[in-house]
Amino acid sequence: MQVVRSKAELREALRPRRTGTVGLVPTMGYFHDGHLALMRRARAECDTVVVSVFVNPIQFRPGEDLSSYPRDEQRDLALAQEVGIDLFFAPSADEMYLPAHCTEVRVRGGLTEVLCGAPERRGPEHFDGVTTVVAKLFNLVQPDRAYFGQKDAQQALVVQRMVRDLDFPVEIVVCPTARDRDGLALSSRNVYLTPEERVRATALPRALEAAAQAAREGVREASAIIATARRELERAGVAAEYLELRSAEDLRPLAEVNGPALLAVAARIGRARLIDNTIIGGA
Ligand code: PAJ
Repeated sequence: MQVVRSKAELREALRPRRTGTVGLVPTMGYFHDGHLALMRRARAECDTVVVSVFVNPIQFRPGEDLSSYPRDEQRDLALAQEVGIDLFFAPSADEMYLPAHCTEVRVRGGLTEVLCGAPERRGPEHFDGVTTVVAKLFNLVQPDRAYFGQKDAQQALVVQRMVRDLDFPVEIVVCPTARDRDGLALSSRNVYLTPEERVRATALPRALEAAAQAAREGVREASAIIATARRELERAGVAAEYLELRSAEDLRPLAEVNGPALLAVAARIGRARLIDNTIIGGA
């Protein structure tokens, strides 16, 4: 595995590998099994696999956890090596963003202004930060495939729309959410949870599963499905920041489930802001 820190080195390292397929796994590091699942899938499907590790400052709001975001590069290097990654791209913020950087990629159309992007939450600007860095990574790596997690369903949809609208020649592969044995979706931010909070956090996957079960039993009205999930959260004393049922294709609000619907939840538990989701009514 080659570790590269500059854009020039990255381009140089990729030049002789362009004859085969290139896969990219963009991350902010502090790997868990969710990240590793994306890397393994990329390893199985591509001749060359690039993982990027970059805590992207422009997707954090002032006051968010940019400076305290968990980092452990030695551990990440060892795990990436184990998976058999070819190139580990870990640039500094100064390398990624030149002074006076002033260009952004902005997706709207109702995809970035809702759920995590609602103005009272992270705002659509969070996703502008994501799409801008992902567009830069796509231009630097020029991957045939790029791997994203269903855990961040809204992010995956926003990236897919950017790729479609701007004709990036890349296939976006969305991989299932990796969970701990107790159902909690793996997240780098789970380290912020105390043991007691960690137990309370399992109400999120339980709430999603209860709602999915209700839908399987024939409940169609969004309000009833959401109420089922909310009861499970309340039982655990968890107040949702949002709990919404939206079209899994374009995030428009749904009154009823008639096609694939995304049930998405966010909740603050202690210091951690956790998100999770499930697709219901798929077929
Ligand atoms: P990060 O939070 O490090 O996540 C990197 C990738 O791993 C994302 O595609 C995310 O959806 C996926 N992922 C996280 N937890 C997962 C889980 N439990 N199961 C499956 N996949 C999971 O998302 C980002 O970084 C950044 O916004 C980034 C796309 C790198 C742009 O800066």
